[in-house]
Amino acid sequence: MWKTTAHRILCREFSVMKKGKKILVLLGSPRRKGNSAILAERIAEGARAAGAAVETVYLHALAIAPCKACYACQKPKSKGCSIDDDMQPLYRKMIEADAWVIASPVYWFTMSAQMKLWMDRCLAFGAYGKEPFEGKRIAVAMTYGGEDPFDSGCVNALRTFQDAYNYVGAKIVGMIYGSAMEPGDIKANKALLKEAKALGTKLAGRND
Ligand SMILES: Cc1cc2nc3c(=O)[nH]c(=O)nc-3n(C[C@H](O)[C@H](O)[C@H](O)COP(=O)(O)O)c2cc1C
Repeated sequence: MWKTTAHRILCREFSVMKKGKKILVLLGSPRRKGNSAILAERIAEGARAAGAAVETVYLHALAIAPCKACYACQKPKSKGCSIDDDMQPLYRKMIEADAWVIASPVYWFTMSAQMKLWMDRCLAFGAYGKEPFEGKRIAVAMTYGGEDPFDSGCVNALRTFQDAYNYVGAKIVGMIYGSAMEPGDIKANKALLKEAKALGTKLAGRND
C-alpha cells in the first residue's frame, strides 16, 4: 500500500495520552480553517479543558475512496474493508476514540462530499471491533451559507446523522450549527462559539 503523509500522521498514536477521554475530530470541509473547523476547534477546546486528549483529522487531505459495495466487510469473520487506503488507519483511530466530533459545511443541502465518503465507508466499521458504534459519543458541528437551518439544507444532514447513529447505537451528545458564508464569519456568532465549547466539555464528561 502506498503511504501518504496523511497516512503516516494517521498511524501515530493519540498525541497526548491522558487519563481523560480520547476525542477524534473529523473535519469535512476542504477549508482547513473554515467555519465548521472553527466550531470543531471550539468543541475541542472545551473537551481539552475537561481533560480529554483530542486528535484532529482533515478528511480532505486523505485518500478515501468511495465504498464499492463489495460487502466484504459484512461477511462472517470479515477482517474489514477491502479497500486499502487512508481509511484503514482511520478505522483504528475511530475504534480507539471514546467520542467523535463530526464537522461539515452544508454542500448542496446536505453534508460535504468528503464527509459522505467517510460516512459510506463506515459500513465496514463493525468489522474492526465488537459492536464498535455502541456507546460511541458524537458531537456534530455544521455551518451553512443560507439564513436558516431548514432552507439551507442543514437539517437534512442533521437528520441523516440522527438516523444513522440511532441505527448503529451511537449516542449524539449534541449538535450545533450556524449560518456563515466566508471563512471565519462564524466567529461573529459568539453565542454559538460558547455553545460549542460547552458541547466539548459535555462530550468529554461522564457518559450519560
Ligand atoms: C459546493 C458548495 C455547496 C454549497 N451548498 C450550500 C447549500 O446547499 N446551502 C447553504 O446554505 N450553503 C451552501 N454552501 C455554503 C457553505 O455551506 C458555507 O460557506 C459554509 O459556512 C462553509 O463552511 P466551511 O467554511 O467550514 O467550509 C455551499 C458551498 C459550496 C462551496
